[in-house]
Amino acid sequence: MMGYEQLWLDYTRKASCGEAEGIEYICVRISDTEQDALIQNSVKELQDAFEGLVGSRPTLRRDNGAGTGAALSGSTGRHGICLALREGMGAESYHLFSEKGDIVIEASDSRGILYGTFDLIRQMKMEEPLFTLDRTKAPLMPMRMLNHWDNMDGSIERGYSGESFFFADHQILVNDRTRDYARLAASVGINAVVINNVNVKDAATWLITDRYLDKVKELSEVFAGYGIRLYMSLNYAAPVELGELDSADPLSDQVGAWWNQKMKTVFGRVPNLGGFLIKADSEGRPGPFTYGRTHADGANMLARAVAPYGGIIIWRCFVYNCMQDWRDYKTDRARSGYDNFMGLDGSFLDNVILQIKNGPMDFQVREPVHPLFGGLTKTNQMLEVQIAQEYTGQQRHLCYLLPMFQEILQFRTYVKEGDDTVRDIVSGRTFGQHNCGMAAVVNTGNDENWTGHDMAAANWYGFGRLCFEPELSAEEIAREWIRVTYGNDDQVEEILMFLLMSSWPAYESYTSPLGIGWMVTPNNHYGPSVDGYEYSRWGTYHRADHEGIGVDRSHEGTGYALLYREPNASVYDNKDKCPDELLLFFHHIPYTWKLRSGKTVIQHIYDSHFEGVEIVDEMAEQFMKLQGKLPDRAYERMAARFREQKEHAREWRDQINAYFYRKSGILDERERKIY
Ligand code: GCU
Repeated sequence: MMGYEQLWLDYTRKASCGEAEGIEYICVRISDTEQDALIQNSVKELQDAFEGLVGSRPTLRRDNGAGTGAALSGSTGRHGICLALREGMGAESYHLFSEKGDIVIEASDSRGILYGTFDLIRQMKMEEPLFTLDRTKAPLMPMRMLNHWDNMDGSIERGYSGESFFFADHQILVNDRTRDYARLAASVGINAVVINNVNVKDAATWLITDRYLDKVKELSEVFAGYGIRLYMSLNYAAPVELGELDSADPLSDQVGAWWNQKMKTVFGRVPNLGGFLIKADSEGRPGPFTYGRTHADGANMLARAVAPYGGIIIWRCFVYNCMQDWRDYKTDRARSGYDNFMGLDGSFLDNVILQIKNGPMDFQVREPVHPLFGGLTKTNQMLEVQIAQEYTGQQRHLCYLLPMFQEILQFRTYVKEGDDTVRDIVSGRTFGQHNCGMAAVVNTGNDENWTGHDMAAANWYGFGRLCFEPELSAEEIAREWIRVTYGNDDQVEEILMFLLMSSWPAYESYTSPLGIGWMVTPNNHYGPSVDGYEYSRWGTYHRADHEGIGVDRSHEGTGYALLYREPNASVYDNKDKCPDELLLFFHHIPYTWKLRSGKTVIQHIYDSHFEGVEIVDEMAEQFMKLQGKLPDRAYERMAARFREQKEHAREWRDQINAYFYRKSGILDERERKIY
């Protein structure tokens, strides 16, 4: 197995955290019966962290069950860390404080203890004072999930960091890396992981059979020790594809009975299983449409089968016609999620969650928020984002996505007065739901640094932190990640902050303009190809001609803008009110149209593309100052990526500018070089 790094849980670099040096013991004030794997893992984590960061391993002192959580010792003059369960706190939450010379982590369940443990380690790595800590934290989102698009042959769909560490040669891997993955994920609050690709084919269809269940169980137990529930993606047509039935009709009694029996077996063998994620009737995947049934029929059949075991069915709303005719101006892919699901609001069982991509298309650098958020009022909802950078530079370009996620979470839907943001909805506040949260298509693989670009780890780290504490700003999360990963040097912090915070705006500037999206090379989705998808079946058009560009989604066009609640609908529907960054998503606009910024569309295109490249050049230059300040291997890897990003940003700039100059015939006011 390839070696790999420990990222933000690296304990090899000494932290100068004087106070930690006095900590000699860990005292577990938790009864034997309540001491599960999470508590043991918390203790081990603390011991390892102290040994590495401080140089001495605290000894374990048992104090079984005596306590209500009150700290001990005091008078002895020695310091320790005390773990205690206390009733009355919310699930998974913790209180980290100091009392009588001890640091106390108090929680009402062992997950809370684990999260408090990782928080304490984070504080140590950031060299914060420990004995004045007083932090009470409760995760805002109930479900904080990673979706792996890993295939059983070891490849990863849209993976940019090597191969899978869950699968190789159609076998499930459980090894040291599995445990370290679980530690890293849990340390930022992740509590659910889907291990296999949403496109379930071939061997993956067999994950729910004898062939794999023992290994699935083993993997689920490693996860469970870190508070993570294992989920699998499911093939909707499994009864047929496993050769057992000739139909997967959700309203057939025989099919229902098959699933009931199947789930009895699966949950019997894998009691820690959380449930299943399903992509149905989408991009060639089977689903209830084959039988003239609805998504609610399909989801509810499965939900009934898993309900006796507390299982959850997560059903994706990424459903659209991928066989569109580009000549057809009426069909609008952006509408499809809404049109397919809105009419079903209220018809899903309580253990079904609809998983909705952040935007109506597909993880572009800029999209409006999906109109199902604020549309649905009687259905459990989860927000799906993609930290695998499929359309945002594939971890070859730096693109820190947390500012985008923050914008999405803060978007007001106007579904009711107050508590109406996406964040309110997916944290359960708006409708009092508990089956909700956020999922990210994750960016990891078996590369030694896990994420290809070292700084792409900030998206993995940040996603977890954001779900746990969405009140943190993207800047705060970035700063934290830098300090826990690279230490507390001011210059390192300042430069890496600049790089992270400049990266999404830069990427947006030199790629497709003003919310129109796409313009990428078909299939692999890397690099520019302005007309790559223009005459294809995928429903992703820009409609550029010699006069203008953009898709008319107003009331005069596809009507998509009107799917939002007021005042959003009127804002998006009106060219004069629509925010610049989404203008071409909603309207077909002449190149000579004046944006709210005061620039014409064409001048904006030229300017932003030149500026985007300038920012990348500046980023690369700043980065080079960190030679000798970052670990050498990491520095070399990142330097190579920045060199590539500079070159490829130029390719984007020149292709986009040339294309629009040739279409429009309008010169750049500043007479810069356009080919
Ligand atoms: C995108 C991506 C596919 C993926 C799909 C999905 O279209 O390119 O690889 O399968 O999203 O989210 O299901």
